[in-house]
Amino acid sequence: MPAAADPAPRHLWSVDVLDPRVGERLLEVGCGHGVAAGLAAARVAPVGQVTAIDRAPAMAMAAAKRNAALVERGLLRVVWASFAEESRWAATAGAERLDGIWAFNVAAFWRPGEAGTSLTIACRRLRPGGRLCLFWDRPDGGLPTPPAGLDEALGSAGFGVERRLCERVGGRGAGGVVARRRPDDRVAPEPVPKPRPLRSVGTAPRRT
Ligand SMILES: C[S@@+](CC[C@H](N)C(=O)[O-])C[C@H]1O[C@@H](n2cnc3c(N)ncnc32)[C@H](O)[C@@H]1O
Repeated sequence: MPAAADPAPRHLWSVDVLDPRVGERLLEVGCGHGVAAGLAAARVAPVGQVTAIDRAPAMAMAAAKRNAALVERGLLRVVWASFAEESRWAATAGAERLDGIWAFNVAAFWRPGEAGTSLTIACRRLRPGGRLCLFWDRPDGGLPTPPAGLDEALGSAGFGVERRLCERVGGRGAGGVVARRRPDDRVAPEPVPKPRPLRSVGTAPRRT
């Protein structure tokens, strides 16, 4: 990925849609150079926190370097991890459930075979009512169509779609969706592991 200097219009646009508020705890998946993560971290200051993850170590390092001042102030944490490696980033993101998760051009949220797992993790990590903002764009300027099956996958994972976006942003066609995690009682519970069959250990005492 080429080096990113100033925020591009799409970064500004996506962070405006995300609408970070003071004190919020947010997670960006696939932060790349950390441009949007830096913008969001500045908006949750002075008491909120953004965690930015990327599965490419070079990208995680670039994001941390670019945002060194925000990292120093505790407003941004950068973790080298894939979203599916939940245990690698969850402790950093905090024990409390998140207010928002977002991702721009990260196919893990809509690629068949991967989307279900990603959306389930997102649902588990968000507080009820928390938002998941997913964005995609087309550099050729054409307006993008939403990824196939995304709405259905969001619904099955426990989200309700609040907003759909499709517009021109800085000469690109950009799309997105804002989905809210349903209240706990409307989300399918995590599967409970089946109890193992009891093994008999010793002989039952005889009744007299
Ligand atoms: C196309 S780039 C977009 C970067 C940034 N979001 C932006 O819009 O400028 C996708 C980035 O997401 C990262 N990525 C893709 N899938 C990921 C996953 N499942 N977990 C964490 N990072 C991921 C890639 O390493 C890459 O840096």
